[in-house]
Amino acid sequence: MKLANRIQEIEESKSVGLAAIVARLRSEGREIISLNVGEPDFPTPDSIITATKKALDENKTRYSLVQGIMELREGIAKKVSRDSNYPVSYENIILGNGSKHILYNIFQTIINPEDEVIIPSPYWVTFPESVKLAGGVPVFVPTTDLQLNIEAIEKAITKKTKAIIINTPNNPTGAVYPKEDLQKVADLAVKHDFYIIADEAYELLTFDDIPHVAMGSLNEEVFNRTLTVQSFSKSYCMTGFRIGYLVGPAKIVEGMNKLQSHLSGNNCTFAQYGALEALQMDQNSLKEMIRELQKRRDLAYKLCKEIFPNTIKPEGAFYLYPNVQDLLGDKFKTDEDLAKHILMEAGVAILPGSYFGTDGYLRFSFAGSEENIKKAFKQIKDVL
Ligand SMILES: Cc1ncc(COP(=O)(O)O)c(C=O)c1O
Repeated sequence: MKLANRIQEIEESKSVGLAAIVARLRSEGREIISLNVGEPDFPTPDSIITATKKALDENKTRYSLVQGIMELREGIAKKVSRDSNYPVSYENIILGNGSKHILYNIFQTIINPEDEVIIPSPYWVTFPESVKLAGGVPVFVPTTDLQLNIEAIEKAITKKTKAIIINTPNNPTGAVYPKEDLQKVADLAVKHDFYIIADEAYELLTFDDIPHVAMGSLNEEVFNRTLTVQSFSKSYCMTGFRIGYLVGPAKIVEGMNKLQSHLSGNNCTFAQYGALEALQMDQNSLKEMIRELQKRRDLAYKLCKEIFPNTIKPEGAFYLYPNVQDLLGDKFKTDEDLAKHILMEAGVAILPGSYFGTDGYLRFSFAGSEENIKKAFKQIKDVL
């Protein structure tokens, strides 16, 4: 018997697929350096672990409110209010099992069949698939030098446009979008009446003091149509806790709550207390991690540019996205062939740009150690 059309029409996350291949090669005794991973190798801060254990000791092991424990929602609302110019309440917040889950729930809540969602490319692989799962149609708009192309975005708007996804700092490119461009997108959203889905999972990870501008902080009119997707995964090294959240209009929170009350219920209750500690702990301790990431960025960028001259310096997140079109031809027909060669011959796992909607690029993560970064680029240089 066939699987449902909706499952046949989506693809498995290719980054998750590659992780399985790497695990197999390692089990066969191959040494593989993972520059494909989307998580920093720093440990979760001690106080977060302690708070989570304490919650377990105190039997915080029961159902919580579907939207999340009140203290955490209030804490998030306080943080968002601090960062913007207007008050945000707990009614604007709902937690989910990672921001992937939040994205799924958003589209299930706002999309009717054939509604269009504009997605600048390259894009994070989960965006189009979660739109398709809701019966929506992803409309891809290429970026220019990895930055938003506002004119092209404007041209892609139709009567069916329901939303645009803006991801800054960006996966897979490491680009950080300037305030002027975000404002132009916001103006279009107001003019043509559509939602902005702002994936800001990497908000704390920007380099060289480049500011991250939150879409929802532009002004209240923009906030009222912005669904901000957030996560504790990247900034607090809590990928396994699975805590993401939405900041948005109370009406959207109510809709998502209805769905979630049948779909998944609440997030793991004691993990929510770990997230609460993440919000409350001294945020200065994160600065050390960001400084270390910036050192890794500088090293990886220098080594990458020596091999792939068309590399743009990333300003945030932890990815490099060189254009490798010059290397494609008889030997490597596609970026996927090149990535496979690098995996099998150099023992370095990376992802081809075609997985992210742009042919002729490679994505390198510099979330791992300096030692691994040096070793990986040396091995790649040797085989190319
Ligand atoms: C842009 C972006 N958003 C969200 C996430 C997912 O984070 P979470 O662990 O909260 O599901 C990722 C993970 O790679 C990401 O790159």
